[in-house]
This record gives sequence, C-alpha cells and structure tokens, in this order.
Amino acid sequence: MGEKIDWGNLGFGYYKTDYRYVSNYKDGKWDAGILTKDDTVVISECACVLQYAQTCFEGLKAYRTKDNRVVCFRPDLNAKRMADTAKRLEMPPFPEERFLDAVKQVVKANIDWVPPYGSGATLYIRPYLFGTNPVMGVKPATEYQFRVFVSPVGPYFKGGVKPITLRIPDFDRAAPRGTGHVKAGLNYAMSLHAIVDAHNQGYNENMYLDSATRTKIEETGGANIIFVTKDNEVVTPKSNTILPSITRRSLMYVAEHYLGLKATEREVYLEELGEFKECALCGTAAVLSPVGKVDDHGKEILFPSGMEKSGDITQKLYKILTGIQMGEIEPPKGWIFEID
Ligand code: PLP
Ligand code: COI
Repeated sequence: MGEKIDWGNLGFGYYKTDYRYVSNYKDGKWDAGILTKDDTVVISECACVLQYAQTCFEGLKAYRTKDNRVVCFRPDLNAKRMADTAKRLEMPPFPEERFLDAVKQVVKANIDWVPPYGSGATLYIRPYLFGTNPVMGVKPATEYQFRVFVSPVGPYFKGGVKPITLRIPDFDRAAPRGTGHVKAGLNYAMSLHAIVDAHNQGYNENMYLDSATRTKIEETGGANIIFVTKDNEVVTPKSNTILPSITRRSLMYVAEHYLGLKATEREVYLEELGEFKECALCGTAAVLSPVGKVDDHGKEILFPSGMEKSGDITQKLYKILTGIQMGEIEPPKGWIFEID
C-alpha cells in the first residue's frame, strides 16, 4: 500500500489503489477481462463517451465486519441497475454475474485498502461503462469499456452526522420521460452548475422538484430522501424520474421489519415539507445523512430534529442499516455478499 492512511479523517475522495478491472466489448462480445495496475484510459479523441457522454456508472461499498470479514451490500441490485441503465443508453449491458465477479476480484486485489472495522471509513467501489470508438453522427458506439476501481472513503458530507441544509433550486434534474431513473453520467454533468451554485450560496445540496409540475419533492443530486411524520411513519417520494436507490429500498424494509414502523412510498408535495419531523438523505455515499433545514427561496423549513443532531428515527435506521453492513446485526437473506 505504501502509505499510512488516517482512516478516521478520510473525506469522500479518490485515492489511487493498486488494481482495477478492465473488460472491452468489440464485435458484439465482451472479452475475458483482466486486473491491471494501469489507472489510465487511452481512447480515440472522437470516442462516443467524449462527444456524446455515452457513459454510466454504479457506486457500492465493501465493509470490514466486526469479525474481520470483507463484505458488500446487495451488489446484485447494482449489477441489475447498471444493466437497466446500459439498455436505456443503447450500451451492451455487462453480464450481471460477471459484474459480481469483477467486484469480488477488485476488492480482493485491493484488500489492504479496505478500512478497518469501526474506523468510520469504507471502500467505495466504482463500476463504469463507456463508448470508446469514434462516432461522429449521433449514434451509439460499437465498442465499449467496462471498468471497476476502488477508493477508500469517509463521509460524503463534511462533518459526518451533523445535519445539512438543502435548498430548492431553480434548476431541474430530470425530465418526465428522460433518464432520471437510471445512473447515466449525463444526469450528473447537468447537475454540476446547480451544485456549484448551491455551494456558493452556502447550501450543502439541492432538493430537486419534479420538473413537470414543480410541486413534488424528488431527490438530491446524489441521494434519495426519506421523511418521518409526527406519527413515526417513514415516507419516501414515489417518482419514476428518480434513481431507485438501493439504500432507500433497504431502509424502507428496515423501517417496516426491524422497527415495526409504517413505511410508505408516495408522492410528497413541497407544501407538506413543514409537516415532517425528520428528513434525511440516503444513498451509498450519503449513507443516511440528516437534513436539518430546507430553504425554499427565502422561506426556511426547519425540521423539529434541528441543526445539532440526527432525529431519533433517522438514528435508529442508521444504526440498523450500518449494523447489517458491518456484521453486527442479522441481515435479511441475500443482503450480504462475501468477498472471501
Ligand atoms: N440518487 C442519486 C441521484 C444517486 O446518484 C444515488 C447514488 O447512487 C442515489 C440516489 C442512491 O442510490 P444507492 O442507494 O443505490 O447508492
Ligand atoms: C453513490 O452514492 O454511490 C453515488 O453515486 C452518489 C454520488 C457520489 C454520485
């Protein structure tokens, strides 16, 4: 590994680790795939990914458990979501079984980079797929590369568990029949201006509205949202223009089956924001980050859980989710994928 890492102070960033996985698609088929030390990608100046953003990605993590195993959390759902994304972008899906095998190979090859149990850090895994051959007219590439690299990461939001502040932006994230439900790179390219603008104005993230009516809550640039009502019901926005977050789907199950709470996926209106007592962002990178406040064009909605600490239900959900991931709590069948 060559260097000592202060795991407890790691932010969410890129660290070049030892090995990555590469497989190329040509003449209608994927090659065998290899692990390599080469962290560079050399492609045509006219590659479809460079001209027309034909690229997609996934994000998952490897965790070191209490009894020192290394595991992933529901990677089969990432494999499936990447295949769904690929189809929407006219790319050849990387076979789901091979996706799981590639994840396993890369994590094993970089096993010393998996942060210790209890350090607060984890190993982020980034699979991605992009069109590599020259394309001038607007059409899909015929050659592709699938890669997986890993990087140790700490919390996505600085300050860890301190509640964050969101704003309702004047920008939209996803069109009604667009690509909001898949993990296309283009969704993130078009969010860059909105996030820079939010940061410049002192907000941590944007809480996007549905672009058709701008009356309903969707998600942020990199996470889904959950709310808790005053009756302890967990509510999450139902929309076909948000990413189907694996963390959110898991949390709704945890709320219902581990905490015995009512968990409802339904349309959530901007005008009902003030009625919730807790709000949090959920995702692989965000884990479950409490939201203290939302600014809607100068009108502030401060959740009763406040700006100092996470709400009670949010905290309970966080403990169970991370407990399952770190091997402290019995998981539902099929949720934990052993690396070795
Ligand atoms: N929504 C967006 C836009 C994301 O980029 C992510 C991150 O992957 C999520 C939600 C959370 O999804 P997951 O829980 O599967 O990581
Ligand atoms: C993730 O949570 O894995 C994401 O992809 C969110 C963000 C880093 C883009």
